[in-house]
Amino acid sequence: MNSIETKTYKVHFNTKAYQELNTYIDSTNFSKIFILVDSNTHEHCLAKLMSQLETAIAIEVIEIEAGEHHKTIDTCVGVWNALTELDADRKSLLLNLGGGVVTDLGGFVASTFKRGIKYINIPTSLLAMVDASVGGKTGVDLGALKNQVGVINTGDLVVIDTSYLDTLPQNQLKSGLAEMLKHGLICDKTYFDKLTDLSALTLNDLDILIHESVEIKKEIVTKDPLEQNERKHLNFGHTLGHAIESYFLSHADKKELLHGEAIVIGMILECYISSELLGFSKHDLDYITAAFNAIYAPVTILTSDYDAIIELLKYDKKNEHGNINFVLLKAIGEPKIDCLVDNTLLIKSFEYYADTIKKV
Ligand code: GLY
Repeated sequence: MNSIETKTYKVHFNTKAYQELNTYIDSTNFSKIFILVDSNTHEHCLAKLMSQLETAIAIEVIEIEAGEHHKTIDTCVGVWNALTELDADRKSLLLNLGGGVVTDLGGFVASTFKRGIKYINIPTSLLAMVDASVGGKTGVDLGALKNQVGVINTGDLVVIDTSYLDTLPQNQLKSGLAEMLKHGLICDKTYFDKLTDLSALTLNDLDILIHESVEIKKEIVTKDPLEQNERKHLNFGHTLGHAIESYFLSHADKKELLHGEAIVIGMILECYISSELLGFSKHDLDYITAAFNAIYAPVTILTSDYDAIIELLKYDKKNEHGNINFVLLKAIGEPKIDCLVDNTLLIKSFEYYADTIKKV
């Protein structure tokens, strides 16, 4: 598969990716290499990466706990301390081997340690391959609020080895698929249609689809790396999705949702709002809702949860001057940024979702 290049970094795939990684390490005078893993990638992915690295430079492994609950500044302090104790200096390289938590947190740790060391993402989850590892968004959560602290800073390379997906649980695969479906909705109906027909997909198709998603994301972030304009399109479904994710994360009586599971609900709600505000086709709304509900299990959001979720919207990172700015769709492939939505319509969107899952 062809590599995807931007001005500042390259994304390489499968066997070629390790060749490029070794060449990069060879040609850069690193003092030490650190591999950041979580407990899952330590067990399932580290041996494969080690077997592919061809270097005489000393390698150290730093492990963090797996899961969104550990995407915190405290975990960063642990990693900064470990780097210090293991004699990392400005010429050290950090390889982030993991899903979105590891690539986001590792990117942030590297971007801030001694005011910045080089890092490379080696995503092992579908979500990280198609979204988190590309475009340089790094950071951590603040309590249950998602990605509130961070910087935009790209690593030099992204190494995508789709064989890491072999050990990924089904629910994690579906979580990543949600971001790919989002790429279809904001850019390309044909791509969305292809993804919804899962029965026709093979693993080889998945490689090609991952490449297509990375290409879509690259096009967007290249035009607008600092999210002043087009990059906001990638937040479609995330305004409500993040609020739902945060709400479920912070309520012990709720089952924690994976990022993609929350974003799918956010996309259904925001398609509904689009149909009410921007004339998004009702036919497409029904089609998209049915497609999502066929892939993702229904999630009960109680009427009594609505106000607290809406309250969390005030922490959305796209907000400006007190306005909560939504990305909505005029049509599939035609997003519109900075849309304002009143609370009555937000409540109606939750009611719409509740009705559709009753019918599943
Ligand atoms: N995950 C959305 C972005 O990278 O902009």
